[in-house]
Amino acid sequence: MNDVILKLNNVTAGYQNGPDILKSVDLTLKKGEIKCIIGPNGAGKSTILKAIAGILRPRNGNVLFNDRDLVGLEAYEIMRQGICFLPQDRALFDTLNVSENLWMAGYTLHDKKELKLRIEEVLTVFPILKKRLSQYAGTMSGGEQQQLIFARAIILKPQIMLIDEPSLGLAPSIVEQAFKHIEEIALTGVSILLVEQNARRGLSSSHTGVVMDLGQVVFEKDAKEVLNDERIQELYLGKRKSK
Ligand SMILES: Nc1ncnc2c1ncn2[C@@H]1O[C@H](COP(=O)(O)OP(=O)(O)O)[C@@H](O)[C@H]1O
Ligand SMILES: [Mg+2]
Repeated sequence: MNDVILKLNNVTAGYQNGPDILKSVDLTLKKGEIKCIIGPNGAGKSTILKAIAGILRPRNGNVLFNDRDLVGLEAYEIMRQGICFLPQDRALFDTLNVSENLWMAGYTLHDKKELKLRIEEVLTVFPILKKRLSQYAGTMSGGEQQQLIFARAIILKPQIMLIDEPSLGLAPSIVEQAFKHIEEIALTGVSILLVEQNARRGLSSSHTGVVMDLGQVVFEKDAKEVLNDERIQELYLGKRKSK
């Protein structure tokens, strides 16, 4: 059985003429898997997501999606193939209302009847958005904006979602809600590669955990094992050493 949907082989990448930030990274993602990348600031976690999404073109290596290499494709082509990138900075159209944001999300779909159906479908998943259809996205609460971001992604029926720091700037109860949505999305067969500063929270919703440092994968294990490993707790999960 080969249920690997995404496979990074020996990926090296950096910005402009700068040094290599990712150094020979290998990583796989399976269908329906939630994989959480943790590691210190500047480790290259966001850079991995950008290299997969085509925002940054790898200098070396392959990014195989269903066995086809994505390296060299433009970001919009990668998105069209079924990989949706949710960057850290929460890109919504603040001055468009919820309905317009949803229509914009599906602008690449030529079949507008199909798009209308998908929007109706997504509004049953996020009923709060149905009540907010004519509200400007920028005036909604953080939690509602987060739901709109997920809704916009789901409309494209992606096979993979790359999510950078979903908990950033959200109140604790909203963080819980966001991870609940992430788990539900994965249960529909979508694979999720997640970067999360709140490592404990990210790992507890994930199947596997990857620790990154200095542009390299240090190791990968079951998320539970990562959570329970004392050395990792000390190094990466902020557990104080007991005297
Ligand atoms: N747009 C950019 N241009 C140049 N260097 C960048 C850019 N974005 C990130 N970097 C550098 O790449 C390294 C890894 O960054 P990043 O992937 O954002 O780390 P993380 O997400 O793990 O905190 C850092 O040293 C950072 O300064
Ligand atoms: Mg980052």
